[in-house]
Amino acid sequence: MTDAALQDRIRAGLRDVPDFPEPGVTFKDITPLLADAELFAAVVEAHAEPWRGKVDRVAGLEARGFIFGAAIALHLGVGFVPVRKAGKLPGETVGLDYALEYGTARIEVHADALTPGASVLVVDDVLATGGTAAAACTLLETCGAQVPGVEVLVELEALDGRRALAGRAVRSLLTV
Ligand code: PRP
Repeated sequence: MTDAALQDRIRAGLRDVPDFPEPGVTFKDITPLLADAELFAAVVEAHAEPWRGKVDRVAGLEARGFIFGAAIALHLGVGFVPVRKAGKLPGETVGLDYALEYGTARIEVHADALTPGASVLVVDDVLATGGTAAAACTLLETCGAQVPGVEVLVELEALDGRRALAGRAVRSLLTV
């Protein structure tokens, strides 16, 4: 499949849900894409192949980053690390608070999830403001890992998430 054909298929596999989870927000629903086995596989392959042999782990960001991240990790034959919202991981954690438009959020990883110097690919479904992905990169680096890149399915260009990730290699399969 060409890049343009994949982009068309991804666009068709997303459903815009107005006013979810709150009024004024249009939610990008990825479930139609996930239900299409051929498209899901093509997306995973497109995310993963540039990183073959180049990363030791894939880190997925809760929650939908788990779906793509775990599949990409399997595709690459490397382990998966969940980056979770606060209070979800059972073991000793390392966390980072980061700013949202209103208030703050916290993400955590298990303290023993990464060996120093490990190369970790960060994966999520949507890049909006970039706050979540930027915090995840910083958190993983705090744990001693290196983050060579960030892969997202969809980038919302109007929110300029790349600014929060300046200096990082960010790749999106579709920009809207
Ligand atoms: C969404 C999305 C990203 C994040 C992007 O997750 O899946 O993780 O927001 O936003 P940002 O670039 O502005 O940080 P959400 O907070 O909806 O969590 P969920 O996947 O657990 O529902």
